[in-house]
Amino acid sequence: MKETIDRLRSEGSERIKAAATAADVEAVRVALLGRKGEVTLLLRALKDVAADDRPAMGSELNRLKVDLGDLLSVRDLELSGGSRGDAESFDLTLPGTSPSAVGTNHPLVSVLESICDIFYGMGFSRGDGPEVELDYYNFTALNFPDDHPARDIQDTFYIDKKVCLRTQTSPVQVRYMERIEPPIACVFPGRVYRNETADASHSAEFFQIEGLVVDENISMADLKNTVDTFVKNFFGADEPTRFRPHYFPFTEPSVEVDMQCMVCRGKGCGVCGQTGWLEIMGAGMVHPNVFKAAGYPEDKYTGFAFGMGIDRIAMLKYGVGDIRLLYENDLRFLNQFRGVL
Ligand code: DAH
Repeated sequence: MKETIDRLRSEGSERIKAAATAADVEAVRVALLGRKGEVTLLLRALKDVAADDRPAMGSELNRLKVDLGDLLSVRDLELSGGSRGDAESFDLTLPGTSPSAVGTNHPLVSVLESICDIFYGMGFSRGDGPEVELDYYNFTALNFPDDHPARDIQDTFYIDKKVCLRTQTSPVQVRYMERIEPPIACVFPGRVYRNETADASHSAEFFQIEGLVVDENISMADLKNTVDTFVKNFFGADEPTRFRPHYFPFTEPSVEVDMQCMVCRGKGCGVCGQTGWLEIMGAGMVHPNVFKAAGYPEDKYTGFAFGMGIDRIAMLKYGVGDIRLLYENDLRFLNQFRGVL
């Protein structure tokens, strides 16, 4: 029997190698391992082998059966195109692609959240309002005269006569005061829209954060202290701030707030346009007409408000020269902020 096994091993593998089609492979499988196949018949003949030789022969035969089965499967694979060559060229030990697709916050979101954190530290809470806003809240309730140029269709995206995309976060002030009685200390961050042509410093959508503090006896000194505390915490330096007189319909008096340029420390450089100062927000004391629109009693409360462009603050802090970079979502730009913010 031993010789028969050896002969079947060499002949069998020759026949398998010679099989040229899947049908050939199947024919060889039947001839060798089928119910009446040569290997099967040998296995049946095992019972006639001398009892002493039977275990050795048995295991030899079984190995032959398994080996021929393997050869048949491999030949089958080779012929079907899913060649073993492919399987072997897949190298499991090669280093994988690093999992860089793990998401992070967009730098604008990180900046927005860290600004909010500073105000939480000063006791502010946070509110929100709709991006699709009534003209009433965006303008009228904020004391914009009917003929104010900001209402012009050039600047505002109107949905219809009474509805627009908010051009500022200030309308949330009124919505909030309609619902909440003072004392109030709240920030309202969010996205705003203006019909602007995009360039390095303009975008049709950008982010603002509004602040509102209302109570009895709130003064301009409270505003100044709040702004200074924010600048110190956010920019991490003791840069002084200054108020410049300005005009906003919803505050009186109104100011623009500058901080001393943290790049040149006030000496004048390219970042601050040689002035030594950087404008960071608009602010002022809440106009009595705004309190009136909110339904507050006359002369009871005073308050301050401010509005800051988050994009501008982020650009100043991280030296980003073009606002469009914040909206293009180019990963080469965004990945620079990974782990930094
Ligand atoms: N809403 C103003 C803007 O978009 C910014 C602003 C100025 C907000 C003064 C205020 C404020 O709350 O008091 O230009």
